[in-house]
Amino acid sequence: MNAPILAPGDEAIDRAVEILRAGGLVALPTETVYGLACDATNPKAVARVFEAKGRPRFNPLIAHIAPGDMGVREGRFDETATALSAAFWPGPLTLVLSVTNTAEVCDLARAGLKTIAMRMPDHPVALDVIGRFGRPLAAPSANRSGRISPTRAEHVAGELGDAVDLIIDGGPCRAGLESTVVDCTGDRPALLRPGPVSVDEIERVAGRLAPAEDDPAAPKSPGRLLRHYAPDARLRLNASAPEPGEAYLGFGPGGGDLNLSPGGDLAEAAANLFAMLRALDADYDNIAVATIPEHGLGAAINDRLARAADRS
Ligand code: TXA
Ligand code: MG
Repeated sequence: MNAPILAPGDEAIDRAVEILRAGGLVALPTETVYGLACDATNPKAVARVFEAKGRPRFNPLIAHIAPGDMGVREGRFDETATALSAAFWPGPLTLVLSVTNTAEVCDLARAGLKTIAMRMPDHPVALDVIGRFGRPLAAPSANRSGRISPTRAEHVAGELGDAVDLIIDGGPCRAGLESTVVDCTGDRPALLRPGPVSVDEIERVAGRLAPAEDDPAAPKSPGRLLRHYAPDARLRLNASAPEPGEAYLGFGPGGGDLNLSPGGDLAEAAANLFAMLRALDADYDNIAVATIPEHGLGAAINDRLARAADRS
């Protein structure tokens, strides 16, 4: 059976809260990508999320919180974490913190770690559901493990429609890339995943980030180990033009079968990236992608493209 899809509104929120209380799964829009949400304090519900995604259980989930005391109940906010949350929440920044002894998020959601990844999404639907539900929601991106993250409700319906109890259709996601993840448990904050909040923006608030010492064989963010964001098509990056048989995903002037941003705007490109990769993947076996500049949001876009192109 395919999950009902509801537009945002009282009926959708009521229904979502009911399903979450009963240990069910709700696909929700956030400003980054759609999340596959469940009660983060209910291990059975969390197990269903891992099951639905086909996600390895060593890969922990982000706890999504609403304003109030939910955050401090779950994680220890030192000076840096306090400053970062004040500057960027609600918003596309996930903080990894030490877990408190008042925490209610279950072990399975944290994959047994003594740390918790947390963020307050900047989306009225997500905030409403979390606020009304009154507990943190564990919500990975609402795609099957290793596939491209969904930025529209129809992506979720196509991939997980038979595994969720409800999809709330909030339209296309504004940012289009998963949140930036910063580890605040060390002496200095460290970047675990580039995303919509850039390194420059973080360093303006929290000082210099620790140098990237992440060992690719044993990354601190377990999800970084996996081949990710993978279309079926082969990707060729930094292509100035397509070869015969290739679709061309352009950026800036110069066209393309699809163009991430004809005007060369990185925020627009980020918002379009996953939907355009999905669209070209449906019709082509080979996709050439234009060069994306590495500054600002470009770093996060290039990170996702490198993972999508990786065949190892
Ligand atoms: O924008 C987002 O972050 C979206 C929306 C739905 O909020 N969620 C998302 O979740 O991208 P997911 O599960 O696809 O990615 C979470 C990342 C993974 O790389 C995971 O390994 C990492 O966060 N993570 C979670 N808990 C962690 C922890 N305690 N320590 C280090 N990394 C952690
Ligand atoms: Mg994901």
